[in-house]
Amino acid sequence: MKQADNRNHDLPGRSRQVIWHPCTQMSRLEHEPVLAVTRAGGPWLYGENGERWFDGISSWWTCLLGHRHPEVVAALKDQLDRLDHVMLAGFTHAPAVELGERLAALTGGALGHASFASDGASALEIALKQSAHAWRNRGLPGKYRFVCLEGSYHGETLGALGVTQQPLFSESYRLLLREALVVSGPDDRRAACEGHTAEQEALRAAARLEATLSLHAHELAAVVVEPLMQGAGGMVMYHPEFLRRVRELCDRYQVHWIADEIATGCGRTGSFFAVEHAGVWPDLLCLSKGITGGMLPLSVVLASDSVFESFLDPDLGIGRAFLHSHSFTGNPLACRAAVATLKVLERDQVLLANRARAQRIALGLAPLRSLAGISDFRQLGMIWAFEMAAGAQAARAVQAAARRRGLMIRPLGNTVYLMPPFLLDDDLCDWLGQTLCAAVEEALALGAAGQGAGFDVGALRASAVGGTGIAGAVGEERLA
Ligand SMILES: Cc1ncc(COP(=O)(O)O)c(C=O)c1O
Repeated sequence: MKQADNRNHDLPGRSRQVIWHPCTQMSRLEHEPVLAVTRAGGPWLYGENGERWFDGISSWWTCLLGHRHPEVVAALKDQLDRLDHVMLAGFTHAPAVELGERLAALTGGALGHASFASDGASALEIALKQSAHAWRNRGLPGKYRFVCLEGSYHGETLGALGVTQQPLFSESYRLLLREALVVSGPDDRRAACEGHTAEQEALRAAARLEATLSLHAHELAAVVVEPLMQGAGGMVMYHPEFLRRVRELCDRYQVHWIADEIATGCGRTGSFFAVEHAGVWPDLLCLSKGITGGMLPLSVVLASDSVFESFLDPDLGIGRAFLHSHSFTGNPLACRAAVATLKVLERDQVLLANRARAQRIALGLAPLRSLAGISDFRQLGMIWAFEMAAGAQAARAVQAAARRRGLMIRPLGNTVYLMPPFLLDDDLCDWLGQTLCAAVEEALALGAAGQGAGFDVGALRASAVGGTGIAGAVGEERLA
């Protein structure tokens, strides 16, 4: 017991000394310490002083089944007793093969060739390289540039950052990046604002994409798109017709389509892949985050036969091969966690059950729709988002009020959103809706009481649970 106490002693302070926290201005941690989490289970995170918080954004959108799902834990324990790790060049193992087979089957065979990496950004690196290399192998080395959408987020390694349109993350590295061509994508909010339908908005965006493709197709490898929703860009949702048009245009102009489903995949939008809403398949598809149920780092790039075959060489030429590798590519533990997660999703018909869960949560959140101070309330599968009209400070006031009620969220600027773990019973669904509504009402009341002075986040901070600062306010602009 004594040893455990020492281990957990002043974690926030010690962390500040030795850990360079992601997406954080470290100078702020003295006044706004991070929260120490000592254990987790289901949707709950537990703090060092016995507090517990509902993980309302699934720990950066990863833990689909909640924390420490017993079947994923059991599978991992079993795997630890069999095979911890072996390199995937020259070797293979059951978890990687079973995962590849399951994912290929989920695409109906359309994307049957899996490459593994450890995180979302690394998956993008693979997809970008595979696309440009495939064109090179087909005798078109001039096709190496990319198109992405305004406001896109694809990760923060240099290649991924080159197709990320978020100045907060990319501006400091501008000189290191290969710039992509940028097209303004569809946004249901703009459609509502300008009085046209979401489908018309999708068609307009497709026309803009076509204008770029028609001029640049000769130098383009791929169009990179987050299907149905641009997540870190502010939960920007759009009509699936855009994806059908992307497929058509990419075929017509001989450009690959890379679908980044790192945020929207694994059932988050209601179908396992978001592209299923549109009934089309990309040439390359990236998955990560939820694929292991959030338990271990893993990402996957799924490629079509056509992309894969362009790398084959009857003369065994190594130059045509995709040599990209990471030491831990296809780690057996991570692959086993992913297989276990897919089994739970399938056996328990989780996505089907999510329909009822989503309806119930939406019912609880319904009062938000009519609140002055809230705009653009929207939902996609198990994702809800809305804007705080008074701005990012108001969103942070909601965050603080939610936290005092035991709900952890992390707004994106003035966008407040929920992306909860899937496995919630009726009571938790109701609690989630009611708690967020109460937090918003409190924040709005506080803003009104401030009479134009803005939201007094400091007041909320002082009364925060456990007396610690608001971890979420640190690096509040970070996104996922
Ligand atoms: C759509 C999308 N792509 C890529 C990434 C990068 O993933 P990672 O943070 O694992 O590198 C993210 C992360 O939020 C994302 O939302």
